[in-house]
Amino acid sequence: MSGPPTLPPRILLIVGGGIAAYKSCELVRLIRKEGGTVTCVLTEGGSHFVTPMALAALSENPVHTTLWDLKNETEMGHIQLSRQANLVVVCPATADLMAKMAAGIADDLATTLLLATDKPVLAVPAMNVRMWQHAATVRNVQTLRESGVDVLEPDEGPMACGEYGPGRLPEPLAVWQRIAWALGLGPVEVAPLPGRAPAEEEASQDSGLGGLSGSMIARGFQRAKSAIGLGEGAGESVVQDGGVLSRKGGARAAPSTDPEALNHLLGTPGFQQGSAHRPLEGRHVLITAGPTWEPIDPVRYIANRSSGKQGFAIAAAAAEAGARVTLVAGPVHLPTPAGVERVDVESAREMADAVTQALPADIAVMVAAVADWRPVSVAGEKIKKRGAAPAPLQLTENPDILATLAASPQRPPLLIGFAAETERVIEHAKEKRLRKHVDWIIANDVSGDVMGGDANAVHIVGPGDVISLPEMPKEDVARILVERFADALPR
Ligand code: C5P
Repeated sequence: MSGPPTLPPRILLIVGGGIAAYKSCELVRLIRKEGGTVTCVLTEGGSHFVTPMALAALSENPVHTTLWDLKNETEMGHIQLSRQANLVVVCPATADLMAKMAAGIADDLATTLLLATDKPVLAVPAMNVRMWQHAATVRNVQTLRESGVDVLEPDEGPMACGEYGPGRLPEPLAVWQRIAWALGLGPVEVAPLPGRAPAEEEASQDSGLGGLSGSMIARGFQRAKSAIGLGEGAGESVVQDGGVLSRKGGARAAPSTDPEALNHLLGTPGFQQGSAHRPLEGRHVLITAGPTWEPIDPVRYIANRSSGKQGFAIAAAAAEAGARVTLVAGPVHLPTPAGVERVDVESAREMADAVTQALPADIAVMVAAVADWRPVSVAGEKIKKRGAAPAPLQLTENPDILATLAASPQRPPLLIGFAAETERVIEHAKEKRLRKHVDWIIANDVSGDVMGGDANAVHIVGPGDVISLPEMPKEDVARILVERFADALPR
């Protein structure tokens, strides 16, 4: 690493013209809360949806709207503006804006900046589903990705125009996570999107589109790390310490844009996540994890497949975030995370009792794969094989721990369930959220090798919308969830 870190990271945010532009306000708020600075550029179209005043108030920076308001060419020309940032984010990126970017057109301030920048570019599309699927847009997105622009996949869902499908702007938190990743600041290891992988971009930066488009387009995300003074070594150690997502507590404790506060934390070699970032300090988090075993006889049992890894990772992350954590664990061979109080149980009824004993809690996260049924009676001796006919097994339903908790007078203020599905994952999760009266369902597709694996791709299904995270290590899923728990809790 050359020279001291020059944090906080600087984002140039180009707000295009679409109904999703209002979400850019939330994005500005999030970036600032996480310790970054934002300068906004509003397109003509964008100004029909959000005002320069709103963006200026949120970013605490002047908002630029036309090429001609950059009066002092020597100090604040469009070249300067495009290069002061560590990352250029286009959000929302409309079909029109992406078409211009792909073609190298520069007919207003936003497109001129995009053509002039030598910094990485992240485009966050939002448009009608048919526009997104149109051959012209597909071509433009492909061109942009091949040229090094990180084009996010839009979310799927109902759209403002009444249609349904891909085209919704991803949630601001997901955009922020991508920004942190692009800057090499976050713990989120997002799978590279189609197009060039970040690591390859350095080598191939001169072989992309030549001329106009080539100079317009981002040169790769590794460069972003050096652009903000985080060399490979420094970047790694910061990530080990919890990454910028985890550092936000430091920013919260001090004014979020105070570079002194951030640099102080980053520059401390022994800086531990737990020492500075404790958004769950004073809170009690109750977690269930692993399977339950429902005995048939002394040697046999019924169970669901579950390694317990995701629940244990959430317990570890909650403890790191300062919470008192009770982890009610089914039979798994996993070490107890530091600072976590573990209660080992075997059956669903034991788990239900342990959960009741652990109340009250501020947050309950029911991750366990509880067996739905148990044998009506448990044989005292090993049941013998009986020749031709197997012994009949009569089952009865287990208590639903999550639903019982939801109906209890001691219902935690934030109650979260998990849903492992093999098909129509989000649809089933939404239905489960309502049926079980919980605040969120964390849904994952277990048709692959999630069970027992180290990675997971989850959808956070809340009352309003769905946030889909890309596949990442279970520890990173846990950290992101814990950040969201802390944000969602009433203060
Ligand atoms: O109904 P289903 O088993 O799919 O619901 C999954 C969610 O409900 C998980 O959060 C799981 O921990 C919880 N659950 C429970 N008690 C049960 C069954 C499921 O707490 N008996």
